[in-house]
Amino acid sequence: MPGAEEAFGVYVHWPFCLSKCPYCDFNSHVRHTSIDEARYVRAFTREIETTAERVRGRTVTTIFLGGGTPSLMQPATVGAILDAIGQHWSIAPDAEVTLEANPTSVEATRFAGYRAAGVNRVSLGVQALDDASLKELGRLHTAREALDAVAIARKAFERYSFDLIYARPGQTTEAWRAELARAIDEAAEHLSLYQLTIEPDTPFAALHASGKLAIPDDDNARALYDVTQEVASAHGLPAYEISNHARAGAECRHNLVYWRYHEYAGIGPGAHGRLIVDGARHATSTEKRPESWLMRVEASGDGLVTDEALTRAEQADEYLLMGLRLAEGIDPRRYAAFSGHALDEARIAALVAEGMVESIDGRLRVTRAGFPVLDAVVADLAA
Ligand SMILES: C[S@@+](CC[C@H](N)C(=O)[O-])C[C@H]1O[C@@H](n2cnc3c(N)ncnc32)[C@H](O)[C@@H]1O
Ligand code: SF4
Repeated sequence: MPGAEEAFGVYVHWPFCLSKCPYCDFNSHVRHTSIDEARYVRAFTREIETTAERVRGRTVTTIFLGGGTPSLMQPATVGAILDAIGQHWSIAPDAEVTLEANPTSVEATRFAGYRAAGVNRVSLGVQALDDASLKELGRLHTAREALDAVAIARKAFERYSFDLIYARPGQTTEAWRAELARAIDEAAEHLSLYQLTIEPDTPFAALHASGKLAIPDDDNARALYDVTQEVASAHGLPAYEISNHARAGAECRHNLVYWRYHEYAGIGPGAHGRLIVDGARHATSTEKRPESWLMRVEASGDGLVTDEALTRAEQADEYLLMGLRLAEGIDPRRYAAFSGHALDEARIAALVAEGMVESIDGRLRVTRAGFPVLDAVVADLAA
């Protein structure tokens, strides 16, 4: 069975935030009453148990607590979720356990508790290192506070990463070059550098449509992307994925599970999974609204709203879409094992001639010139 390798990831979604950032379309919700964490722990435990009954005997190699804002959870809540995972599957001794955190001072006070609960890596949403940009992005922290949280993370965890958003309104290449260099001084081994995307139905989309939010045009965005690659590579943090940079060996192993198209379980509201059940790869997703998800899990043991066995062609397309985001690219033989036929040689040759892809050591990968037009390259190969 292609793709049924030893890596097995568990993603757990915490769907709450203190406020909604105007650019964000993640499944995150603001509640003005307190969240009953004990009830969520019971529901997470139940959904983990139900999922583990379908895919028994796995050894969990990575766990990712994402959101929303998982750093709003009490450390005891995180500990109880990790315990439930350990009760229903075995967890590899060297498993990577990441928690996504917002870099406010309140959240940083919980870092030692998360470490004690079993988290060994944090990913902090720093977003920008200047206060005017942070305000514009609707963030609740200052740059100083974010850098203080990074310093606390550095002491509490052997591994940490942080996110920045670039191609922000009015951002020049000079300003980004300086900001990125400063960020790299604070980063240890991993940085996620996302180009600002205007997501439909967000406040930023409305502002953008009404001409009140000017973001860099395509040429400027491309120049900012080029600066990102140049500065990060020069400092030993090359891109291993289109938006993710790491020193060799420090890649986020959990996200590699997705991009290498291995198996993972999605637990919690709006979580996605790819589970191999009786030899078939299933795409799963759960109810997005937290309260509806709770009720479903309490009634039937899981919050599933999608559970479809993927066809060979669908798996081949997903493998291509995910794998070509990686600098290491894909193994064409694995593509052929999924789809039942090889990739079209003539299309590959045309893309190679255009400088968009290259074939190296039996792998097919996108070039630096190809990454900014990745969607078109994938569409061309999959057609
Ligand atoms: C689930 S979110 C964030 C986790 C955490 N709640 C936070 O905000 O710090 C993961 C990351 O996606 C990025 N992101 C979210 N919306 C984005 C957008 N519209 N454009 C670019 N990056 C975005 C941000 O960098 C964010 O840190
Ligand atoms: S960016 Fe993070 S804090 Fe802001 S709304 Fe999205 S998930 Fe919540």
